[in-house]
Amino acid sequence: MKKWNVATVRAAKGREKLGCCTAYDACFARLADESGVPIVLIGDSLGMNVLGHSTTLPVGMSDMLAAVAAVARAVKDALVVGDMPFGSYQCGEDEAMRNAVAMIKAGAEAVKLEGGASVCGLIRRLTAAGIPVLAHVGMTPQSVNEYGGFKKQGQTREAAEKVLADAKAVEEAGAFAVTLECIPAELAAEITAALKIVTIGIGAGPVCDAQWLVMHDLLGLNEKVPSFVKKYADLASVVRGAFSAYVNEVRKGEFPQ
Ligand code: KIV
Repeated sequence: MKKWNVATVRAAKGREKLGCCTAYDACFARLADESGVPIVLIGDSLGMNVLGHSTTLPVGMSDMLAAVAAVARAVKDALVVGDMPFGSYQCGEDEAMRNAVAMIKAGAEAVKLEGGASVCGLIRRLTAAGIPVLAHVGMTPQSVNEYGGFKKQGQTREAAEKVLADAKAVEEAGAFAVTLECIPAELAAEITAALKIVTIGIGAGPVCDAQWLVMHDLLGLNEKVPSFVKKYADLASVVRGAFSAYVNEVRKGEFPQ
């Protein structure tokens, strides 16, 4: 298997569609990597999937750095991308640079951050410092309070124009790929055709160059999932079955023998 990097991801545009996912620990990151997942994102969705929060907002740098280090130790071939949590890049570019450097020192090979035109100055500084950036436009979950919930974006022509302009701006600023989250499929297709960089959709239809799924959703560990998710396994049932068989066998004196 080849080692994925920013150059091979860029080169995949128009040639190969990429099924990418999140991981938050060494065990699942190793399994994803061994299965050929090209990009493993340590998403700030760790807040919901691992830490039990209802949004990504409480996640901090210390949460992310521990998870990035664990995933990076396990992955051999995938590109490892660390998500910049809320508050790590909103309080000034110098602090953002220091936090992105910490992500790279922990083992990330690129960082992801949310926002369009408003973060282009930071994207320029990061890429000039040798830190590749994966951008994220459309529905940006760190803005949940501004939206009043996790709501689909880009639904009016004016809103769609803004998402398209943001995607073009982050490309121009040097991002090597852009996440398109929860926008209409036609808009995602328009953006994918307009950009030279890879678009990675999540809830953005089938035409993007690549897709994200959150690991806990695709494996069926989360029972309630967004409507666009396909569950490729039902691990919640498997795990519950194993735990209850163990508890019953111990209770009945059948284990250990
Ligand atoms: O944190 C996350 O899970 C994300 C998704 C877009 C994959 O940012």
